[in-house]
Amino acid sequence: MGREQITLLSRREIDKMRQAGQLAAELLDYLAPMVKPGVSTLEINDEAERWTQARGAKSAPLGYGPKNNPFTRSICTSVNEVICHGIPNAKQILQDGDIINIDVTPILDGYHGDTSRTFFVGTPSPEAKRLVEVTEECLRRGIAAVKPGAKIGDIGAAIQEYAEANGYSVVRDFVGHGISHVFHTAPQIPHYGTRGKGKRLKPGMVFTIEPMINQGTWEAVMLDDGWTAITADGKLSAQFEHTVAVTKDGVEILTLRN
Ligand code: MF3
Ligand code: CO
Ligand code: CO
Repeated sequence: MGREQITLLSRREIDKMRQAGQLAAELLDYLAPMVKPGVSTLEINDEAERWTQARGAKSAPLGYGPKNNPFTRSICTSVNEVICHGIPNAKQILQDGDIINIDVTPILDGYHGDTSRTFFVGTPSPEAKRLVEVTEECLRRGIAAVKPGAKIGDIGAAIQEYAEANGYSVVRDFVGHGISHVFHTAPQIPHYGTRGKGKRLKPGMVFTIEPMINQGTWEAVMLDDGWTAITADGKLSAQFEHTVAVTKDGVEILTLRN
């Protein structure tokens, strides 16, 4: 980890990333009202695909991954104990009290906008509500640690401290990532770690921060489909994600709607 070169994007490339990021944020806003009891995760997927195509963009997840087992849908839908990479399915019907992370990555003019939020289906339990609120605050604190001269470890430390102070655990097996005209590239951004450790942040770096926070153990188990990651203890997991750029004096959230 941390051996490959980190590309610094030009002003022009960051403009492209902003356009893709804005599209991704709009897509989540468009899908949000669909999150209701009785809706299948495939219905949400199909609306996302239709909306994305109508804007001249492509869905990065569709066909992504190893040739012998590519991802077969346009978005990830991760319900309750699913940590990430849940595969939309016609038989998976949302129920009152579920939580669902919707993770979208449209490609616009060659550049990726990667963002996700966890939504409540109907009325959440107090436990689910607290987990989701703490997870969103973890992302906020991770982003607040981003500025030129800070270290990658500062981001994970901020997230881990807040998650663990609230009695939760931080998933280790999946991390944030550099992103541009490629979906996943250097650097890796762990959501745990030590302040002052890791590479130094520089203006022009663009990466995601996407903490996955668990109610119980951080350990993950992969289902036989080769994609769906679930909590080892079956307890809830939540996630929020933004794509961010390191700027001259701080950070710009590219997937926050202007
Ligand atoms: N959007 C996910 C991320 O945040 C990646 C999904 S890859 C897929 O990195 F193939 F599962 F869609
Ligand atoms: Co991502
Ligand atoms: Co994502």
